[in-house]
Amino acid sequence: MDNAVFTQLNLDDDCDPGHLIPLLQSIQFHEGYISEQAVRQIAHLLKISENHIYGVASFYSQFRFQKPGKHHLKVCLGTACHVQGGAQLAQEVEKQLHLRSGETTPDGAIDYEEVACLGCCAQAAVVEIDGAIYAKMTTDRLIKKLNELRSQQAVLSEAENAPLSAPASA
Ligand code: FES
Repeated sequence: MDNAVFTQLNLDDDCDPGHLIPLLQSIQFHEGYISEQAVRQIAHLLKISENHIYGVASFYSQFRFQKPGKHHLKVCLGTACHVQGGAQLAQEVEKQLHLRSGETTPDGAIDYEEVACLGCCAQAAVVEIDGAIYAKMTTDRLIKKLNELRSQQAVLSEAENAPLSAPASA
């Protein structure tokens, strides 16, 4: 993590350990996750162990330890969604993408989070992809959406790796 975030947070040298949660929240907000480097810097600043920081941060689901992906996938496991098959959707994500909540695919394309409620329980089971809500989700529809995401990502990756101009013809 860049020192600029710490500077922006306006911390002084005698910052006390009571600042840990607000500090983690600010880093999560600015960076999108809590990196190993950030943990080291916090440990140094607050004079506490890295293990203590991981222990505290992992208690709260709001903190991520992996860099977010380009696409954001959330599966709701709240009561209404659970009753309508939310757990099966979560299992399908694990099967298709090999992801557990809080993880990102190795290529950085998709991050995944299991949440307690997305605020539209009457539409259960609910999945959110890149901020859009998908109501009454089934495993078949989810597989289709994941395939769409993967093919979009493949096109983007191809475009990113394409040469800027065509090679000159002979
Ligand atoms: S429980 Fe899933 S949207 Fe509320």
